Parts: sequence; structure tokens; C-alpha cells
Amino acid sequence: MSEKFYYITTPIYYVNDKPHIGHAYTTLASDVLARFMRLDGYQVKFLTGTDEHGQKVEQAAKTAGMAPQDFVDKVSQNFRALGDILKFSNNDFIRTTEERHKKSATALWNKLVEKGDIYLGKYAGWYAVRDETFYLETDLKDGKAPTGADVEWVEEPSYFFRLSKWQDKLLAFYEEHPDFIAPTSRRNEVISFVKSGLRDLSVSRTSFKWGIPVPNDPDHIMYVWIEALSNYITAVGYPDELSDTFQKFWPCDLHMVGKDIVKFHAVYWPAFLMAAGLQPPKRIFAHGWWTNEGQKISKSLGNVIDPINLVETYGLDPVRYFLLREVPFGSDGDFSKTAIIQRLNSNLANDLGNLIQRTASMAYKNCEGMIPHFQEFTQEDLDLLYEASNALKSLRSLLQEQLFHKALDVLWTIIGNANRYIDHQAPWSLKKTDTQRMGTVLYVVLEVTRHLGLYLQAFMPDSATKILDLLGVPEDQRTFAYGGCDFSLKAGTQLQEPTPIFPRYVEN
Ligand code: MSP
Repeated sequence: MSEKFYYITTPIYYVNDKPHIGHAYTTLASDVLARFMRLDGYQVKFLTGTDEHGQKVEQAAKTAGMAPQDFVDKVSQNFRALGDILKFSNNDFIRTTEERHKKSATALWNKLVEKGDIYLGKYAGWYAVRDETFYLETDLKDGKAPTGADVEWVEEPSYFFRLSKWQDKLLAFYEEHPDFIAPTSRRNEVISFVKSGLRDLSVSRTSFKWGIPVPNDPDHIMYVWIEALSNYITAVGYPDELSDTFQKFWPCDLHMVGKDIVKFHAVYWPAFLMAAGLQPPKRIFAHGWWTNEGQKISKSLGNVIDPINLVETYGLDPVRYFLLREVPFGSDGDFSKTAIIQRLNSNLANDLGNLIQRTASMAYKNCEGMIPHFQEFTQEDLDLLYEASNALKSLRSLLQEQLFHKALDVLWTIIGNANRYIDHQAPWSLKKTDTQRMGTVLYVVLEVTRHLGLYLQAFMPDSATKILDLLGVPEDQRTFAYGGCDFSLKAGTQLQEPTPIFPRYVEN
């Protein structure tokens, strides 16, 4: 089989803050894709990390009374810890204060200089530290940035990137690659932004020190975005473009980002890359933002959602499931206690939990604790088995478009059909009249459950492992390559004694 590679990244997170639901959401969505692609036979590189330079971090360190390096060493750990708790499967974690990154960002800078795309000029404008962005006088609303951030007048010598030169090339690139930015609303937004005209971009600062110095001009520090974005190539070995890793994984398959940072990823980043003679990534997906019980999430309102707290309250897999099922991926969504409890109790405990619990318990009690023997399948049996095994095709195409909610819908349609099938076949009555048919019915549902267990490994890894363990599926037969009927459950395999995998949530 030929080798297949898949490279997926999350944004690197600012370390001036504790991880919140936004960080967890972006990385979770990426984690599901990384897991799915691994199960589907790809060699996956899944990168996340922390963005540790810039004025914002310098200020946060000062407020904390710490040296910047000590501060970032400490806070970066919170993001690793979040990954451990949410079981993120990233196989690289980059910190922009690492040597490999300094080397790569510096090399990218030098390349842009060499190509004539960076020049020294003078900058004067309104700068918002919070957004790490410059604004035009005409952008300001009531003396503040359009985002509400405070701005200050900054005048300093600065290096510029010739972004204006790339306007037409970017538009041509978007045209030739209709899937480059998703969802469509974001794509349209980006295209109209670029069409409205691109000005050269200031890419260095002299007003602070905490960053990577500009080569040969150490009074200047590289602007945080040019530096931060280059993390995506650092992690695959840049500047060694001929390295095995770079060859396998660049261009990146997907940069997962929030809607607030789509411009940096879909405009600046491909321009930097094209200017450096490198290929742009294949796709940028910008997801929406969560509100909390209908309110915008903000520190000042004190309604920031701590993902670790959510996991402690509801359990890891219910949280993973809820975040990706509740809201169409790409749209904004609202977090509410009622909604998560409803999802947990109805979709997980009732629909999926009961399906497994009632069939596995019946088989355990009535078929000597084993996967039952089956007889010839009826059309109804075959329809359900086919629906379950065939779902992989839909899941692949939906996840290729990052439509997590639709992928979960596909699985829950199967679960609904399987529950209706049992109700209709009534194995509890067959127990008295036709035990062989009872065995066949239970077998069909358990085999459907095996497929569900295989797919759900991407979304709810712990629960899916419990499902597959319960059914006695060998650990080395849990990738999608084993979905076919050659690897169906073997009658006579020992079942584990079933215990509920998705208990109901009872508020106390
Ligand atoms: N450091 C930059 C990214 C550089 S990438 C080269 C950055 N960091 S961040 O820590 O602010 O990133 C936050 C991520 O969380 C973004 O993807 C953002 O969209 C996401 N969210 C922040 N608040 C959010 C919600 N309320 N809801 C969902 N996601 C949100 O930007």
C-alpha cells in the first residue's frame, strides 16, 4: 500500500492567558481529524503549541513580576496539561521560544529579504497591543480599534513586507483553489478583503524586546504574526526543505483556526509562503465562536468557560461529543448547561448507551457470555449491517469538509435504526420462541456496534475503547482497514460483562 500523509495544525496559543473553551475547541476538532486520518491509514503529523513572543506576553510577564522566559515556561505548561486532560493526540508541541523555531523564522525572513519582498521603511499608525494589529485612522470607532481594544499612536522605523504585490496572485490562487478557505462565508469575506486592496505590511517593531531579532538589525524585533505563522513550517523541518519530514508533510493539509484569525492565515501566510517560493497550505478552516448561556464570553464578565472544569463535571467524552455535535462546525454556538445535559442523557445514555447495554447484556446472559452464533441473515439484518459498514464513505467525505456535526448525525441515524430494529425484532420474545433467531438478531446489533466503536474512536476515544473491549475486538484490529466483513465479530468470542458506558447525568 502506498504511504499516505496528513498534516494538521492548530493555532499556537498565546500564553498570556489560561486555556479556555476556545483553545479546547480548536484543538479538539483537529484531534478528531488527526485520529480519523490515522484510523484511515494515514501517517499523521498533528501539531499544536504556544505562541510565546510579543508585546502582550512581555506585558503579562511584567504584571506577573517574572522574567519573560520564566513566565512562558510556566504558562506553556497549562496548555500541555489541557492536552493531557482532553486526550489530544498531537505528536508535536511547538514553543516559539525554541531554538528550532528561531532558526526557521530567521531563515524565512532572510529568504523574503533575498527575494526583495522585505524593505526598510517608516511606520506611523494606530497600534492595538491586544490584537497585535495596526489600524487605520478610518478603522477606529470612538477612538478604539474595531475590536474594542485600546490603541496607541506608534511612529517608528519598520521593515515592510510587500503584501501589495501579492494581491492579484492571491486572488488567482483563491480562484484556482476553491476549497482553500472554508466555510464559504469566510472565503467570501477574505476575497472581498483582498479585493478591497492590500497595503504593505509592517513586519518589525522597535518598541519592545521580547521576540526574535531581525537578522543584521537587532534593534528590530520580528512582528509576532510573521514569526508565529512560521511555526507551521518550523515543525516540519524548515529551512531544510529537502528533509524527509518537509517532503512528506508540506504543504500542510489543514490549518484549523478560529474565525478571528482567518485573515492572517488566508491572506498574509500564503503571501509570505509564495514570496519565499514555498507552497501555501491546502486548506484553512475557520470555526465559529462560543457564547456562554447566550452571553459573549469575556474575562470582564467573569463567564470564561474552563474546559478542565467541564470535563470534571460531565466527563471527557460527553464534552468532546457535545462540542462537536451541538453546533454546525463553522457557525457560532451557545454553550448551555441544559443543552449539554440533554445531549448527554438523550444521545449518549439513551440512544447509544442503551443500545449497547441491552444487546450486550442479553447476549451475555443468554448466549453463555459470548458473541452469539448466527444463522442466515434476513434482508432487514443485511440492510442494517450494510448501513453500518458503508457509513465510512460518508464519514470520509464529511470530515474532509470538517462537517463534524453531520458525521455524528450519520452515526446517530444508524444508532436510531439499530434501536428500532431491536424493538421490531424483539429478541426478548424470540428467547421464548426461537433462540437461534434471537442469537442472529443480537449478533447483527453487536456487529453494528463494532462498526460504531471503530468510527467513534475518533470522537470519543475512551468510550470507543470500552465498546471495542466489551466486544472482544483485538487491539490490532481497530483501524478502518478492519471494517470489512472478513473481520466481523467471531461467534463464540468471549464478551466482557457489560457495565453502562454512558451513565445518565443526574444533577445534584
Ligand atoms: N497566537 C495566535 C495564533 C497564532 S497562529 C500562528 C492566537 N492565539 S489565541 O490564544 O488567542 O488563540 C485562540 C484560539 O481560540 C483562536 O483559534 C480563537 O478563534 C479561539 N477562540 C477564542 N475564543 C473563542 C470562543 N469564545 N469560542 C471559540 N473559539 C474561540 O490567536
